[in-house]
Amino acid sequence: MSPLHVVILAAGQGSRMKSSLPKVLHTLAGRPLLQHVIDTAHQLGADKIHTVIGHGATQVQERIEDDGIHWVEQKERLGTGHAVAQVLEHLPEDARVLVLYGDVPLIQKPTLATLVSHVAVNSLGLLTVTMDDPTGYGRIVRDDRGRVTSIVEHKDASIEQKAIREVNTGILAVMASHLKTWIPQLSNENAQGEYYLTDIIAMAAGEKIDVAVNQPQDLFEVQGVNNRVQLAELERWFQRHQAERLMLAGASLADPDRVDVRGNLEVGTDVFIDINAVFEGNVKIGNNVRIGPGCVIRDTEVGDGTEIKAYSVIESSKIGENGQIGPYARFRPGNELAANTKVGNFVELKKAVVGEGSKISHLSYVGDATLGARVNVGAGTITCNYDGANKYQTVIGNGVFVGSNCSLVAPVTIAPEATIGAGSTITRDVADHELAVARGRQRNIAGWEKPKKH
Ligand code: UD1
Ligand code: MG
Repeated sequence: MSPLHVVILAAGQGSRMKSSLPKVLHTLAGRPLLQHVIDTAHQLGADKIHTVIGHGATQVQERIEDDGIHWVEQKERLGTGHAVAQVLEHLPEDARVLVLYGDVPLIQKPTLATLVSHVAVNSLGLLTVTMDDPTGYGRIVRDDRGRVTSIVEHKDASIEQKAIREVNTGILAVMASHLKTWIPQLSNENAQGEYYLTDIIAMAAGEKIDVAVNQPQDLFEVQGVNNRVQLAELERWFQRHQAERLMLAGASLADPDRVDVRGNLEVGTDVFIDINAVFEGNVKIGNNVRIGPGCVIRDTEVGDGTEIKAYSVIESSKIGENGQIGPYARFRPGNELAANTKVGNFVELKKAVVGEGSKISHLSYVGDATLGARVNVGAGTITCNYDGANKYQTVIGNGVFVGSNCSLVAPVTIAPEATIGAGSTITRDVADHELAVARGRQRNIAGWEKPKKH
């Protein structure tokens, strides 16, 4: 099989976005538009991806992390044909070439696989759609036997041609050898003074090369982004699509239109996700998990049977089975919770390892800490992990009871089964089974005279 080279056109400025950010860096489901197209090209098994950039070229290159991309700069924007011309010398003669647009983010692999299957020495693949209002698009002109003979841009079209409702999506697939013959022959004598890639269709027809047309499964696949209204439409469509995938995988959604997945979310069965949950990065959720309303969960694994209650924010953590988290819990990165743990309201965790059955139920900060099993951390307890310059560890053994409102000044170790009296500031290690109390002794003064107002 001849190699597959993908050419992504992304040199446009996107002035209608009204933004200092190049258009293709605006995000859909948390990923730049261009990244969606690149990811699809990879899925398709592209041997090489050439991306034509112009406006904000360095910004685009910096933002898109992909060593596999061959960046090509188009210094002046002289049309889609001129853009492809910049890549010509990098295309092997025997390659199949697929042209995609950086601002058409939702094109899907099956549609492209069909298109590419039409590429041969005597045929090329062209993706078209039929629209109720074709204004602005290139029209697909066919002869009386239905064969495609050319594409006419809207501004160059006659009145009869303007009535054609089948339009060019811009996406096509063709042998590199043909591009190398046709592209240098393009002229810019047209209404826009541009080198139109679309003019190669008439050249193909002239050489009796078959133009094999197919249409996408869904119109959204070929919808371009020109302004923020269109971007929002595509975002909603994409999110709805993902919500349906989650439901079919076994998750009930309180409202499929009020869940956002910005990355990859894997769900088990009998999962329930309440409204306005946001998932970012790679999130994996086990069976029988409940996610409360307004939770934000990023790069996290949640074990079977765990409940994350309303408005919890969880980042880069691993939560075991049958946990009870939140409401209003905040997990900064690096936590690992064993099974049956409880982390309640207004608790912040960071780099905390929490053993089986341990509880941190209310209003605490636990950071850089290792807790064994069956530990109980009382309300308002703080691990003082930072001295202003360095971070230190707090280690708490199995079965330790920490009373409310304690400060554990790290580095400090509390051995198994020890008890810390409420309100203590612990600065020294505590041995197993000891009770440590570190607070001012209470004095009760009898007959105390209350101060009087002057
Ligand atoms: C193009 C097609 C038209 C089709 C429409 C679909 C041509 C001549 N016309 O028109 O038939 O119906 O797309 O949306 O191809 N670009 C560059 N460098 C350039 C010019 C464009 O990289 O010099 C990129 C743009 O960033 C964009 C894409 O190519 O991603 C399409 O360019 P655009 O100007 O939007 O093409 P249209 O005139 O809309
Ligand atoms: Mg245009």
